[in-house]
Amino acid sequence: MQPLAQRVAEAADLVTVALDELLPRAEGPESRLTEAMRYAALGPGKRLRTFFALETGRMFELADRSVLRAACALECVQAYSLVHDDLPCMDDDDLRRGRPTVHRAYDEATAVLAGDALQTAAFEILAHPDTHGDGSIRAELVSKLAQAIGAKGMAGGQMIDILGVREDLGGVARMQRLKTGSLIACAFELPIVMARAKEAERHALLAFAHDLGLAYQIVDDLLDAQGDAARMGKAARKDAGKGKANFVTLLGVEAARERLDVLAKQTKSHLEPFGKGAEFLRASVDFVLERPS
Ligand code: IPE
Ligand code: IPE
Ligand code: MG
Ligand code: MG
Ligand code: MG
Repeated sequence: MQPLAQRVAEAADLVTVALDELLPRAEGPESRLTEAMRYAALGPGKRLRTFFALETGRMFELADRSVLRAACALECVQAYSLVHDDLPCMDDDDLRRGRPTVHRAYDEATAVLAGDALQTAAFEILAHPDTHGDGSIRAELVSKLAQAIGAKGMAGGQMIDILGVREDLGGVARMQRLKTGSLIACAFELPIVMARAKEAERHALLAFAHDLGLAYQIVDDLLDAQGDAARMGKAARKDAGKGKANFVTLLGVEAARERLDVLAKQTKSHLEPFGKGAEFLRASVDFVLERPS
């Protein structure tokens, strides 16, 4: 089996090249906007959503070429969400992916617009015939992404996060699933739609994706509490001071880690029906849990 880190790095290179081709360039004064979009989206992200989409596509023997377009849409949304998440009115962060955040490198208005335009770019990419030859599949891709990131998905989760309601653990898990889990689940759902996968396969993979998404955000929260800011390329030790409610601020580091261990086993169990075909996805659970950034 190819080392997972290498496989993730290959996926990252593929999507960065594809994004570079797909993202707009402009000549006039609006070039400030397209430059800010490119700055946000082409920066050194881990591209794990791309990796999940490509691996799922490969399990269903889809061509990398079309899944890569779906991955570009996911990465445009990821970049948009981070640009807005970092704004002074949200988490007020100065560093992202090891570089100044977009509102620092440009200004706040440009950051808002770059986020907006990255979001619409995602839908433009999905709706293009090169993504899939069947218009009804394209419409379904657009609908799945919209559901994942709207009021009942990522944006809704961000609202709960910003309100800082100190809910019980069930409430926090729900917030995490919305703000982070839904886009991660979408990385599985888009290739599932493209492959017209069987309902049982869809069900098992989405159960995997939902647990993985929750684990992903708990790791992010642990990294905030304990990680190395230089290595992460973003500020650490901010969540507690900002009154964020998450597993780590509510339970403490030790108990959050214990929950993560249980969750990791549960996450992997959903892949049992897929056998060897899911070996990279199975290995990605430990990769996500042990990530240093
Ligand atoms: C950061 O996501 C925000 C969360 C949803 C936890 P990532 O840790 O995947 O960030 P990048 O894309 O690699 O920069
Ligand atoms: C962000 O969560 C989730 C998004 C939907 C962008 P965080 O606010 O914890 O992400 P970081 O720590 O800034 O990357
Ligand atoms: Mg945030
Ligand atoms: Mg943040
Ligand atoms: Mg965080």
